[in-house]
Amino acid sequence: MKRFKRYLVTSALPYANGPIHIGHLAGVYVPSDIYTRYLRLKGEDVISVCGSDEHGVPITLKARKEGITPQQVVDRYHAINKKAFEDFGIAFDIYSRTSNKIHYETASDFFLNLYNKGEFIEKTSLQYYDNEAGCFLADRYITGECPHCHNENAYGDQCEKCGTSLSPSDLINPRSTISGSQPVMKETLHWYLPLDKYEPWLKKWILEEHTEWKTNVYGQCKSWLDQGLQPRAVSRDLDWGVPVPVKGAEGKVLYVWFDAPIGYISATRELTPDWEKYWKDPETRMIHFIGKDNIVFHCIIFPSMLKAEGSFILPDNVPANEFLNLENDKISTSRNWAVWLHEYLEEFPGKQDVLRYALCANAPETKDNDFTWKDLQARNNNELVAILGNFVNRTLVLANNYYSGKVPEPGDLSPFDKEVLESIPRLAESTAAAIENFRFREGLKEAMNLARLGNKYLADTEPWKLIKTEPGRVKTIINISLQITANLSIILEPFLPFSMKKLREWTGLDKIKWQDAGNVSLLPPGHQVNKGGLLFEKIEDEIINRQIEKLMNTRKENEGSAAGAAAVKSAVTYEDFSKMDIRTATVLEAEKVPKTAKLLKLKIDCGTDIRTIVSGIAEYYTPESMVGRQILIIANLEPRTIKGIESKGMILMAEDPNGKLTLVSPVEKTGNGSTVK
Ligand code: MF3
Ligand code: ZN
Repeated sequence: MKRFKRYLVTSALPYANGPIHIGHLAGVYVPSDIYTRYLRLKGEDVISVCGSDEHGVPITLKARKEGITPQQVVDRYHAINKKAFEDFGIAFDIYSRTSNKIHYETASDFFLNLYNKGEFIEKTSLQYYDNEAGCFLADRYITGECPHCHNENAYGDQCEKCGTSLSPSDLINPRSTISGSQPVMKETLHWYLPLDKYEPWLKKWILEEHTEWKTNVYGQCKSWLDQGLQPRAVSRDLDWGVPVPVKGAEGKVLYVWFDAPIGYISATRELTPDWEKYWKDPETRMIHFIGKDNIVFHCIIFPSMLKAEGSFILPDNVPANEFLNLENDKISTSRNWAVWLHEYLEEFPGKQDVLRYALCANAPETKDNDFTWKDLQARNNNELVAILGNFVNRTLVLANNYYSGKVPEPGDLSPFDKEVLESIPRLAESTAAAIENFRFREGLKEAMNLARLGNKYLADTEPWKLIKTEPGRVKTIINISLQITANLSIILEPFLPFSMKKLREWTGLDKIKWQDAGNVSLLPPGHQVNKGGLLFEKIEDEIINRQIEKLMNTRKENEGSAAGAAAVKSAVTYEDFSKMDIRTATVLEAEKVPKTAKLLKLKIDCGTDIRTIVSGIAEYYTPESMVGRQILIIANLEPRTIKGIESKGMILMAEDPNGKLTLVSPVEKTGNGSTVK
């Protein structure tokens, strides 16, 4: 493997529009922290940069909703998230932010450089414009009726009710959320990075030269590259972000995914005047820690930007993780289905390492994984307390009871002693190898195997039974146990920094290097250790059940609010009801509406006439399965045109709280056109 002179570790810049949760920690920040701590321990030249990603439409939306400025939104979450990282010992060298002046300069210069080199394509396109507000509308700023589930408040990029992704032109009756007016299509100019131009180079660089990348990462890159890349717009019509630094670009900013990764560069510049060493010297190894939703940006788009610029190095690896679920359900901010870091610390003060341990032991390295409170409890009680804590505690207590805490001189070694001593450097090495290959779960397991071994060593040799009869033997056993303890405090440091710091205080090991790991006389005879205390404590069922209960309440509330959407509407008179002409009808023909995922065009016999109805049920019913079915329709609904097809009436469906649709039919077949009353 190539030797590098120095390391640049980056961790995805979290959006400053919400707090950090355990999914972020498990997927990105715990791994990057373990890796960085390991390199620092080795004495490598390494810097770890991160910061808040403070641009993008969701931040402006949140500000609008709360009636404050985007800057106020990002100020709030930048402070919260910076503190959360500090509290969990995620030791960045800098936690910067993309609303800093230095970032505006860096991103602006980066754009200009590419612009001057002619690396962009300029193109006009049609986009919704709000005449009243006098601005273009980002997809999220347009709402309208979902063509699929007829939710009146679908967004221009997605209907949150049925989960369909949309484009603004799919919406029926689009409205601007800024002024409420109907937006119009207007031409707008943008700059595009021609990714297609980089495709051959990317194919070679990733698919041939980086076959060592994790399979999930390599696979995603390959599928993007196989599909063929298109030019990507790097600007947006928006008033929040880094202004596009060219004439005639008023009201346009850099696309958030263009400026955010440049934030890594800005953060490094802010950190050190020596920043170019980290960004431009090929002997620097750059590693991006990210979640799987960021892969295309870090493996394809940002490298193309760097390549276009020409003087920067490229990432050597991008060890992206999959997602962490919570109690068998996708983590979701809007459903409050998450464990927030600040909340965890309120309920489990001082137990940062317990969460770090549970998240690392269960990290979604190769597939999505599930976090459960029971698992955290089991890992704490059965591993941290019963193995690691127990071993360390017994060792220190025995050393203090028998030798007043002075490390005893070892005597002759038994075969078992030798075997144990030989395992120490072996486990230190396998821990290191796993960390270097971004297999942090395995690394943690290897390191814990040393604690397991120590525990077994004490249990098997039972020094407390020998202290009267074989005092020389006991000295050897306690010496070896102390050496294991000292080694643990090094090899577990990247994983459990808070506890290992304590442990090193107890053992009086102040300056450590990774290279000391494996040394079996780290604590020389006569060295003083103290009794220490409990490294970890048992977590009782009651505490865990309270957390589970809290989640179950959240789930109930969510289900309640979903059912609430179908709560009984206010009263209508029979007269109101009888205005509706609901009747039975039979489907004669059905076909998909081209270029839509959700729509079926149906020819229907409703007794009086044969008519066409467009319905958003394609996700639940195939055209074939519709033909011949008897259904219910509203026959006198005002006709309307959907995707250029006039739809006369509507098919009745039952919708469950999750938005799943089921056709409604008469229990027995009846004549078409029978009215429902
Ligand atoms: N804010 C993005 C997210 O949370 C990550 C940005 S990473 C960067 O998904 F490279 F763009 F900074
Ligand atoms: Zn919908």
